[in-house]
Amino acid sequence: MAEAPAGVELPGAIGRDAESRRLLARASASIAKGASSTMRVLDYHLPLVVERAEGAVVWDADGNDLIDMNMGYGPLIFGHRPRLVTDAIARELGNRGTLLGFADTVSIEVAELIKAAFPSIDLLRFTSTGTEASQTAVRLARAFTGRSKLVLFEGCYHGSTDGTFHRYHAAPADIDALAERGEVAPGTGGMNGAPRDIVLVPFNDIEALGAALAANRGNVAAVMLEPVLGNAGVIAPDPGFLAAVATMARNAGALVVFDEVITGFRIARGGAQERYGVEADLTMLSKAASGGVPLGVIGGRADVMKLMVDGVVFHGGVYSGNPLSLSAALAVQREFAANGASIYARLEASASRLADGLRSLLRGAGIPAVVSHVGAMLSLWIARDDAAPVPRSYRDVVRTMDHTRLIRLQHAAQRNGVYFHPNHFEPWYISTAHTPEIVDRVLDRLSGALREVDWRPGG
Ligand SMILES: Cc1ncc(COP(=O)(O)O)c(C=O)c1O
Repeated sequence: MAEAPAGVELPGAIGRDAESRRLLARASASIAKGASSTMRVLDYHLPLVVERAEGAVVWDADGNDLIDMNMGYGPLIFGHRPRLVTDAIARELGNRGTLLGFADTVSIEVAELIKAAFPSIDLLRFTSTGTEASQTAVRLARAFTGRSKLVLFEGCYHGSTDGTFHRYHAAPADIDALAERGEVAPGTGGMNGAPRDIVLVPFNDIEALGAALAANRGNVAAVMLEPVLGNAGVIAPDPGFLAAVATMARNAGALVVFDEVITGFRIARGGAQERYGVEADLTMLSKAASGGVPLGVIGGRADVMKLMVDGVVFHGGVYSGNPLSLSAALAVQREFAANGASIYARLEASASRLADGLRSLLRGAGIPAVVSHVGAMLSLWIARDDAAPVPRSYRDVVRTMDHTRLIRLQHAAQRNGVYFHPNHFEPWYISTAHTPEIVDRVLDRLSGALREVDWRPGG
């Protein structure tokens, strides 16, 4: 994923990026690869060091302004530096400080508000990241069922724990070859061998799920998925798919785990569970739940969460439920509770305006493309040809979309003042700061970018 695909040539310094280049070179002497997440510094990223941010805009070290369509990979649902969040944190600093290390008062109302948004959650615990929530979900499912296997869906990412981290962007041929031997590829070097207990099935494929459950009868602890696939681009569940997954999993004696780290509080206040009317046994939340401070949630059915109450499943964390994160989350959750209807209507309207505008821009330029969005998460794919359908699975994206041309477009967009992630498996995220005027400015800047792209087919 980090390497540039064939056909991507990184341009030399174009526009003003000398300071970003200099800072990245300096950073690389002390921070591995120059930033603390590989996804920020892929080999095909143009140099970009950000100094300042406000609303929908970031300013880089060279003084360029860019409209940000990445929004911290999803959490910044109210934009960068929203007063709602910064004021709450400032108040908390003068009140409880940054860390207590005790049972506290602020967590209680946040938990109650999250339960009100997600009726399937009887009890929950706070974590600091989605990865920790995922790790705990797997432990709960295994301890509750006394089984070990996890049925996961191709292209889904559930954090980088050894339990779930497989090479989720592996070539389909490699996935198939390993599946013949009952294996999946490890997500990273240094794992304790390949994850042994993962069975992979394609998203939106009920037959494959049925076959996987039958082949592993009596051994599946959980069927776990992103209910809207957000790590293969944005792929909506087919009508009835999520309900079928839940029924089939429960019939097989397995728990249904929804990873709503992206979808929770983004595609509706109650995430995919509200939007599609399906309930999970366990739910993972993070990202938009707190508007940009570190917070994760693992919650679910009382009988499953009781394992934590009884101490059968351990969960801790010095920073779990820290007052800094929880005070921000409280402000954000109160805002969702009070004004959710208008917030989600505005997000939906901006996302539709952007999707329609992108489609007409690309159609006008004669570029085959597919734009898909579910609420305030969106994908722009450059297609290999005009016949490409809207993808229903990770495999569809790999088969029909041209990553190289998307990267070339991203480079031109960045030089024209719009940042979206150059990996076509990463969604664009719309925030309340992306007003209709900002969306129109994005489209205007992109129309300039389109003219600069080398549109010869890539790969
Ligand atoms: C669907 C999903 N689950 C889990 C995670 C892991 O969250 P974190 O990076 O906070 O550990 C991510 C992160 O992007 C995610 O997209």
